[in-house]
Amino acid sequence: AQEPVRVLVTGAAGQIGYALVPMIARGVLLGSNQPVILHMLDIPPAAESLNGVKMELVDAAFPLLKGVVATTDVVEACTGVNIAIMVGGFPRKEGMERKDVMSKNVSIYKAQASALEKHAAANCKVLVVANPANTNALILKEFAPSIPEKNISCLTRLDHNRALGQISERLNVQVSEVKNVIIWGNHSSTQYPDVNHATVKLPSGEEKSVRELVADDAWLNGEFISTVQQRGAAIIKARKLSSALSAASAACDHIRDWVLGTPEGTWVSMGVYSDGSYNVPAGLMYSFPVTCRNGEWSIVQGLSIDEFSRKKLDLTAEELTEEKALAYSCLS
Ligand code: NAI
Repeated sequence: AQEPVRVLVTGAAGQIGYALVPMIARGVLLGSNQPVILHMLDIPPAAESLNGVKMELVDAAFPLLKGVVATTDVVEACTGVNIAIMVGGFPRKEGMERKDVMSKNVSIYKAQASALEKHAAANCKVLVVANPANTNALILKEFAPSIPEKNISCLTRLDHNRALGQISERLNVQVSEVKNVIIWGNHSSTQYPDVNHATVKLPSGEEKSVRELVADDAWLNGEFISTVQQRGAAIIKARKLSSALSAASAACDHIRDWVLGTPEGTWVSMGVYSDGSYNVPAGLMYSFPVTCRNGEWSIVQGLSIDEFSRKKLDLTAEELTEEKALAYSCLS
């Protein structure tokens, strides 16, 4: 039998946590042959609720779930984990300044970085979901210098999946036949959902470009982009709660593809540490098109970037540069 993999979920008593932990326990994350031990962290005010989630995990009798650690102790939570999904964070509340929210999250991610660095398993892979996701991941990277930067990422797969969904609806094709959209940049409303390299597989087996099939550049350069950028807000408006099932599902997609590999000829979007590819400033956590193999991602190189796209790539990079400066100003 395979050794269980230890998976940490922080903020596990929250909305996304509640949707995510059963997916992990069912094998959605790493496949239906891979046993898991769940480590769930939350803060003391949520301890009772976290314990309730643990009770439900027991009651669900998941065959793959070999153990549950539910704790408010960061060290206990991080010890021995192979995968860390960081969903816990401080939400922006009415009347709060951006800087105050940033400051709270910087201190959370600084502390959790140190705990992961000291106590996680070697080669632990980290996915930051909590907002501001890119900048939280950057802080985590800076304060866990012994964790290789290639092991730290943030979630833009939800935005990627939203883009696939919009194209699928527009063309009335199965979402599984659409591929190679790209989310560039920040997981925020400055992100750039790019379809210039996206294709659809037709019933004949032929692959055609999305731009050609949609044949409406005004829609692709306008409403499509803003719908994907604003989808989070639209869900909040409809549900009075933020997207949780789609965020949890995207987090599973992100980790599964990272660990098990992307299919041949397909890429996905991941927020990763920029090496300067596509003239994105090095040292930002930026969402790129990536392929994964043997547990490692690499940025897809050589895609053409037209003038329209260039401006959008730069705009979201500028926002991330500002966020980085704001985060650093909170450290001093
Ligand atoms: P939520 O408020 O329901 O849950 C957050 C949980 O984190 C709460 O249980 C809270 O007690 C816990 N928490 C707070 N500080 C913590 C700490 N220091 N350590 C451990 N746990 C802590 O929020 P929800 O809806 O589950 O969203 C979680 C985060 O994910 C938010 O920051 C949200 O903005 C973000 N998000 C990101 C998406 C993405 O695509 N990257 C998509 C949707 C949400």
